[in-house]
Amino acid sequence: MNHRVVWLETGQSFEVAAGEAVLEAALRGEIALPHECQFGGCGTCRIKLVEGAVGYTSEDGEAGELPMGLSPEEAEAGFALACQARPSSDLVISVAPPLACSSPTLLSATVEGVQALTPDVTHLRLRLRLPEDVELVYRPGQYMNVQLGDGRHRSFSMASRPNGGTVDFHVRRIPGGTFTEQQIATLRAGQTLDVEMPHGNFCFHAEDYRPLVMVATGTGLAPIKSMLEALMDDEDCPPVSLYWGMRTEADLYLHDEIQTWADRLYEFQYVPVLSRASDSWTGRRGYVQDAVLADLPDLSEHAIYLCGSPTMIADAKVAFAARGASMDHLYADSFVFQMV
Ligand code: FES
Repeated sequence: MNHRVVWLETGQSFEVAAGEAVLEAALRGEIALPHECQFGGCGTCRIKLVEGAVGYTSEDGEAGELPMGLSPEEAEAGFALACQARPSSDLVISVAPPLACSSPTLLSATVEGVQALTPDVTHLRLRLRLPEDVELVYRPGQYMNVQLGDGRHRSFSMASRPNGGTVDFHVRRIPGGTFTEQQIATLRAGQTLDVEMPHGNFCFHAEDYRPLVMVATGTGLAPIKSMLEALMDDEDCPPVSLYWGMRTEADLYLHDEIQTWADRLYEFQYVPVLSRASDSWTGRRGYVQDAVLADLPDLSEHAIYLCGSPTMIADAKVAFAARGASMDHLYADSFVFQMV
């Protein structure tokens, strides 16, 4: 049986055929619901069910479990993942329309710098080559696709605030990775890359004015750095607590720089957390989400931004909800695209 879906914010509606997922039907109708991975991992397609109900069943109707990118607490709060959810009634859904930014645009970029930050993380700086009459609007937290030259691409979050000129990236080496290990090793300043940007809807929500708890693992720091750079010297900057989870001291590739941010962000607290620290490390140990829990017994008044490993994000959603965190004020970007 078909079901009708109405998108509250835009007034658009579309029909979902029996066995179809909400996102599949929206895309068939050329309705731009936000999405990325399309397999239930990244959480980008999260929608709020204002009316109606959905289930997570296979196309042949077998009952399934919640997808990885949706916690039981989010489901309980009325959220669903459009790429996996199949309606069991007509729906009214709420989801913020795609960001006010440019449509993804193919362009060339010149390599300005390639520098190893650690044996596994490279700082890549590109200069965008925009036609004179083109203005590209993008938001801190979004990402770019780098074309590999064989029809494939790799996605990287931008690690610098938008300035229309240069863009920084933190590229983590994936063993055997076509770009992250092989191509980047041969990149030199002056070379050209084809890129497509902007993509993604992980960004700072200024309208959600609350103390910020930002939690990153690994290069999940990149989009958070971009957001925080955009907040520097801003008198409307809320209090910021940044928790960065890594394995060892040597992995903390921006440790010194982050400590200087306290001069330019309001009530900035930086807490690096190491899961495999040496004996000489005097800072926090363990998992980064546990450090947040140890410091903040009540998360009900915070806006929370999570970026990095799917495991950290899934654990944090559950644990933070138990401390009162509202799923309406929690934003996540799960690095599910770890392809070679
Ligand atoms: Fe649905 Fe990634 S697009 S979870």
